[in-house]
Amino acid sequence: MTRRIRFNAFDMNCVAHQSPGLWRHPQDQSHRYKELSYWTELAKLLEQGRFDGIFIADVLGTYDVYGGDDVAALRQGAQIPVADPLLLVSAMAAVTEHLGFGITTGTGFEHPYPFARRLSTLDHLTGGRIGWNVVTGYLPSAARNFGAADQLDHDERYNQADEYLEVLYKLWEGSWEDDAVVRDVERGVYVDPAKVHHIGHRGTHYTVPGIHLSEPSPQRTPTIYQAGASPRGVRFAAENAEAIFIAGPSKRILAQTVSRIRDALEAAGRDRNSARIYALATVITDATDEAAARKHEEYLSYASIEGGLVFMSGWMGVDLSAYDLDDPIGQVDSNAIQSAVAAFQEFDDDGREWTVRDIGRWAGIGGMGPVFVGSGSSVADQLQDWAEETDLDGFNLAYAITPGSFEDIVHHVIPELTARGAYAREYAPGTLRGKLLDRGDRLPPEHRGATYRPGGSASTALPDAVSRPGSAISL
Ligand SMILES: Cc1cc2nc3c(=O)[nH]c(=O)nc-3n(C[C@H](O)[C@H](O)[C@H](O)COP(=O)(O)O)c2cc1C
Repeated sequence: MTRRIRFNAFDMNCVAHQSPGLWRHPQDQSHRYKELSYWTELAKLLEQGRFDGIFIADVLGTYDVYGGDDVAALRQGAQIPVADPLLLVSAMAAVTEHLGFGITTGTGFEHPYPFARRLSTLDHLTGGRIGWNVVTGYLPSAARNFGAADQLDHDERYNQADEYLEVLYKLWEGSWEDDAVVRDVERGVYVDPAKVHHIGHRGTHYTVPGIHLSEPSPQRTPTIYQAGASPRGVRFAAENAEAIFIAGPSKRILAQTVSRIRDALEAAGRDRNSARIYALATVITDATDEAAARKHEEYLSYASIEGGLVFMSGWMGVDLSAYDLDDPIGQVDSNAIQSAVAAFQEFDDDGREWTVRDIGRWAGIGGMGPVFVGSGSSVADQLQDWAEETDLDGFNLAYAITPGSFEDIVHHVIPELTARGAYAREYAPGTLRGKLLDRGDRLPPEHRGATYRPGGSASTALPDAVSRPGSAISL
């Protein structure tokens, strides 16, 4: 049977997201990120292309690892200035019916209590189309501006994230029963207090004794996305994630990552295919191979190696300005994105070791992922080949220029993949979770989050009579 390929669009509330320097291209409109119309037009385009969703990255710091300060990042516009991703969602939801929203926020920067309400609000307003990309952060500059000397150690950040999720699951899954809101006009009762439970959470990082502030939304827990592929990151993903973004420069490295993730899902008691895995990639396409190759050359002439090294330094946690451009990457020890370092430390498929210049150039268009160039038919061949050999579910598509790269994909690649039976002809009904995984709108019973439901094995919800004596009313 022909393998189905899924697309996500990868963007960020800033210029030239993963393609530093390309904001100089005359057709790039990423400088319009401050206009609502940029986002609503993009959302409509992506829905026309039946993308699963738009994935909006975010960082709360600057890329000041390169050169030891933020000068190069500012000069390059390398994800700075950057604006808030969550505030974009309502507008995009208002002009679409099916598109999902995978929004990034970190577990180290905001207390889970107000965050739970914000996501429940968006799940209501989008009709169940909100997803949350859970990140643990990698930029020390972010931690410093929250008053810490440095970020926590890599694995400790994930330990904190474990508890962050625990609080959220208790609020989203354990606090309100489905029939708590009765809106009984005759009796003057809006909510049945007996069906709303205090979560009674006392942990290492958080104390949250009370109830969730929002009533249950279509998905309750938003669809959980994750994008960390270190051993600790994969363990976290296996327990929580329903969609996983990975990044790597070659089929071999991606195939290893996919198989490690699927094994870990099984080890966590879930099905191997219970999370959709998308690999970062950029597509440069046109009516013919020759036209696409010319477009690629033209884009490369705008790409910035310095901008690429600003990003790679932040992702790897290593100041690459201290190296000669021809130095090999070698054995770098990272407290940032460990999987990024590991991917580039390996020899590539041709047996050549990567140098600093190589990774700066590589990251000049599309970040850490590959760039597929060609006509719609050639790109479809490449995508099918990579998906088949790596066991991927799909691709998280970065842009070279926006919205141009996405328009080209919608016009050239999607019709080709659809004609081959490799791309959905229409959206499935239901929420984002329902569309992605086809197992209903709520978390399945074997998922970690489901164990926090009232009566579940991990529930700490207090019976109403204990938490609020005398509050029970007779309906
Ligand atoms: C495709 C992709 C996108 C990511 N987007 C973000 C992001 O927007 N914000 C962020 O703080 N981290 C982002 N990350 C990093 C992480 O999600 C994760 O915290 C980091 O990879 C550390 O994990 P690891 O060492 O387990 O790989 C991204 C990673 C990948 C592969």
